[in-house]
Amino acid sequence: MLREWSDIYSIGIADIDAQHQGFFAAAHRLYDDILEREGKNAVEEAMTFMRNYAEEHFQTEVAFMRKHEYPGLKEHLILHAGFFRKLDELENDLMMFGPSQALADRALDITQDWLIDHIADEDMLYSLHVKAKGVSDLSAV
Ligand SMILES: [Fe+2]
Repeated sequence: MLREWSDIYSIGIADIDAQHQGFFAAAHRLYDDILEREGKNAVEEAMTFMRNYAEEHFQTEVAFMRKHEYPGLKEHLILHAGFFRKLDELENDLMMFGPSQALADRALDITQDWLIDHIADEDMLYSLHVKAKGVSDLSAV
């Protein structure tokens, strides 16, 4: 199910929240392009956009965690790598079987739904960490 961005997904760090919003948009674009079966090129472009967006976003997060000496960084990196593995599997299946409702649903599951859980379970932890340290400058970009 497509979900609109909501403040309940906010971790209270404006730069990161804005990127999470963009992540939602990239996930929705991927879902729509797979569903509309606009052809290989549109799907490939949406997939590349999603991958690049995620890479850039994760880099922002990692730099932020490093800057604030977040102790859970190593575990967090493993979760980001897992995201790309799922994306690779999806891309392989899209190339092999072509777009379908099932693959569009899976795309949404591993991007939008993954992000929602990841925000609540993991990103919130580094947010709490910096806030507990009393960091006043919460800029991340
Ligand atoms: Fe993250």
